[in-house]
Amino acid sequence: MQRLLSQRIAALREARSAAQRTRMCRVVTQRQGVQCVVNGRTLLNFCSNDYLGLSQHPQVIAALHAASSAGSTASHLVCGHSAEHAGLEAALATWQQAPRALLFGSGYLANLAVLQALLGKGDACVQDKLNHASLIDGARLSGCTLKRYPHNDAQAAARQLHVDAQAVAVLATDGVFSMDGDVAPLAELAAVAHAHDALLYVDDAHGAGVLGAHGRGSIAAAGLTVEDAPLRLITFGKALGGVGAAVVGTDELIEHLLQTARPGIYTTALPPMQAAATRAAVQVVQSAQGDALRAQLHANIAQFRRAAAQLGLPLMASDTAIQPLLMGADADALTLSAALEAAGYWASAIRPPTVPEGSARLRITLSAAHTTQQIDGLLDALARSYTPPTQIYFSSV
Ligand SMILES: Cc1ncc(COP(=O)(O)O)c(C=O)c1O
Repeated sequence: MQRLLSQRIAALREARSAAQRTRMCRVVTQRQGVQCVVNGRTLLNFCSNDYLGLSQHPQVIAALHAASSAGSTASHLVCGHSAEHAGLEAALATWQQAPRALLFGSGYLANLAVLQALLGKGDACVQDKLNHASLIDGARLSGCTLKRYPHNDAQAAARQLHVDAQAVAVLATDGVFSMDGDVAPLAELAAVAHAHDALLYVDDAHGAGVLGAHGRGSIAAAGLTVEDAPLRLITFGKALGGVGAAVVGTDELIEHLLQTARPGIYTTALPPMQAAATRAAVQVVQSAQGDALRAQLHANIAQFRRAAAQLGLPLMASDTAIQPLLMGADADALTLSAALEAAGYWASAIRPPTVPEGSARLRITLSAAHTTQQIDGLLDALARSYTPPTQIYFSSV
C-alpha cells in the first residue's frame, strides 16, 4: 500500500485505541425476540431500534416471503420500480396523510438526497446541534452554508434563519433525537420556519411508528401537518423492523427529488421483498395491534423510568424508547456496558464522535417485546453495576 497512507492509517488506529474508541462488530448468530446469541452466549437485547418487535412479526415475515423477487434488478428510474415499491409508497403517503412518498435505500442516503437536491452554494441549512450525522453530511455535500443551533433552541434557530433574500433556507431537525431520546419542539420550529420562509424538514427515524395517533410520528404528535413540515423522513430500520427509507411530502417537492436526487437516481432500488415486508409493517402499525404494541412499549418505558428513579439512576430527560444513561468518560461507559453483558444484558456504549466529547453513554432502548421480568432483570443488573460517573464535562447547549 502507499507508504504515506499506511502511516496515516496506523497513526489513526493507535490514537483510536489509546482513546478506547476502537469500534467492534459483534456477530449475532441467533435472534429470537429480544434474545440474541452472541459469541455463544444468550444476551437480552436492550440496544436495538426494533421498538415494536416488528422485525420478526409473522405478518411482516409472510409478506417478505410472498414478494415477487429478492432483487430489484435496477434503479427505480430504469426498470427496478416494482408493484411492491409502488404499493409501499402509496401506503406510506396514506399513513402519513401526505400527498406522496419516495423510497430510498436507507435513511442516510435519503438525508443526503434531500439536502443535496434542495440546497446549493449560497443557500443555508440551519440544524440542531444534535442532529443525526446524515443530516450534517447532507448539508456539507450540498455546498450550502451549514449553521448549527444549540439543542432544541427554536429562538436560536430563528436568529440563524436571517439569511440573504436570494438564499433558500432549510430548517432541519431530528423529530426524536437518536442518542438523547428527547423530542424536538416541532410546533415552535414550524412557526419559526414559516416566519422566515424556510422549509422545515423533520427526520422522524425514531418517531415514526411509535409516536402520535396510528404511530404517524412526531409531526402528527405535535399537531402539525404537511403544510407545516412539507418534507419528512421515515426510516424502515427502526420501529418498522426492516431496512430502507422514504421521504414523504408535497407533490412538488417529491417530484423534484425523484428527478434530481442523486442518491435516489444512481442506485439499485430496494429489494421488492423488503418493500413488501415494510408495507406489511405499516399495516400492523396502523391497526389495533399497533395501538396495543405502542401501549406495551409506553408501559415498558414507564416501568423502566420509575424503577430507575427509585434506584437513583440519572436517566436523561426522555419519554421515548431511547433511555440514555450518561456516563461521561468513554472508559466508564465501556465498564458499565461490560458489567451488564457479564450479567446477560446487551446495552452498548455510545462514544464520541457519535455523541459530543465527554458525553459517552449507555443508549438503553426499550421495545414492546420486552417483558416486565426482563426489564426488572436489567434494572437489578444496573443496581449492582452502576457507579456514578467520574467526569461529565459535556453540555448539550
Ligand atoms: C435520526 C436518524 N436519521 C437517519 C438515520 C439513518 O437511517 P438508516 O439507518 O436507514 O440509514 C438514523 C439511523 O441510524 C437516525 O438515527
